[in-house]
Amino acid sequence: MSALERAFCRSSAWRFVARKAVLPWALNHHSLTGDVLEIGGGSGAMAAAAAHSFGHARITVIDVDQTMVDTARLALAGFPHVNVQNADVTALPFETASFDMVTSYLMLHHVIDWQDALAEVSRVMKPGGAFIGYDLTDTRLARWVHRIDGSPHRIIAPGELADGLAAAGLTDISVRLSFRGHLMRFHGRRRRAAPPGRHSPAAARR
Ligand SMILES: C[S@@+](CC[C@H](N)C(=O)[O-])C[C@H]1O[C@@H](n2cnc3c(N)ncnc32)[C@H](O)[C@@H]1O
Repeated sequence: MSALERAFCRSSAWRFVARKAVLPWALNHHSLTGDVLEIGGGSGAMAAAAAHSFGHARITVIDVDQTMVDTARLALAGFPHVNVQNADVTALPFETASFDMVTSYLMLHHVIDWQDALAEVSRVMKPGGAFIGYDLTDTRLARWVHRIDGSPHRIIAPGELADGLAAAGLTDISVRLSFRGHLMRFHGRRRRAAPPGRHSPAAARR
């Protein structure tokens, strides 16, 4: 991330907006329950908002940048059901099928190997678990801003994201444009295992 983005992400203005407006909009009426992983949690602004709104969810926040991890740990110290770790989303240090939900807010476009990130997200979700979030779309403005600030990025087009979610084994996929096409909200669900025998060729012949 660029110095500008890092400063914005850590500002009290962003914390305020994250809690009042961005989290409810990003979740789009979904509730956070059970074990929830937030990838690329930055300063912890969205996790703090989530911890306020969903007091029963056990939230794990990861970020690859130690400065952001330290900032998030401070911001989230008052929430015993939240923990923050330094980790790369493309190589998550969690067991397969550990989380009920994974959230991602404005971070995927920072991950050059975002398809690997989606594969990891899918791996750590329990069958039936939900992946919810939002990101920038591939607009001229987004490309221009990131070229100016010099941060590594690979902005994803909505169709590419939908294909990537399917390739990662997710189902019930939705990718919807918002704010005149500058942002996209997305959702996917890890496939549940088929009941034994239900889809077997032998069962189909019976
Ligand atoms: C624009 S910030 C968004 C922060 C936060 N989600 C929010 O909405 O306030 C993107 C974050 O993704 C993190 N990030 C980038 N690449 C990552 C990776 N490979 N694994 C984990 N975190 C990553 C960055 O360090 C940064 O904190």
